[in-house]
Amino acid sequence: MRPTRNSLSEEARRHISAELNAVLASLIDLSLQLKQAHWNVRGPAFIAIHELFDTIHGEVEEYVDSVAERIASLGGRADGTVELVRSGSKLPVYPVSVTDIEGSLKAIAGSLAAVDKPIGGGLLDRCDELGDAVSVDLLTTLSAMLQKNLWFVESHLS
Ligand SMILES: [Fe+2]
Repeated sequence: MRPTRNSLSEEARRHISAELNAVLASLIDLSLQLKQAHWNVRGPAFIAIHELFDTIHGEVEEYVDSVAERIASLGGRADGTVELVRSGSKLPVYPVSVTDIEGSLKAIAGSLAAVDKPIGGGLLDRCDELGDAVSVDLLTTLSAMLQKNLWFVESHLS
């Protein structure tokens, strides 16, 4: 950990940085999966789904940068190389042979949910207990973005 005048304890900063790096790896994986889906999806509603995936990609990219910069603010190292993303991401592997609309939507829905799950499943509480209101705020708005886009994606599925 890099020394900083940030008022959080070093232990809290180390713990939260590690947890945020896990979120970052999954978010970068999601960002790449969305472009894979954006480029390769095919079907009768092509343009709507093609554009939906790119819109979500743009929102995810904003959070990739925000989460990485929060880690840096805490004195941690933001890990975004392909090797570290590969080992750190908790997402299901994107099924690259699937290009139909329903299959692409289901894959992206699963990945959106997988990024969101650990946030509400204990991460927000741990950041709160460690006194990091800034990370709580960041993760809350990230979770809201993921859940909104999960609604958009699932609304195209019967
Ligand atoms: Fe494009």
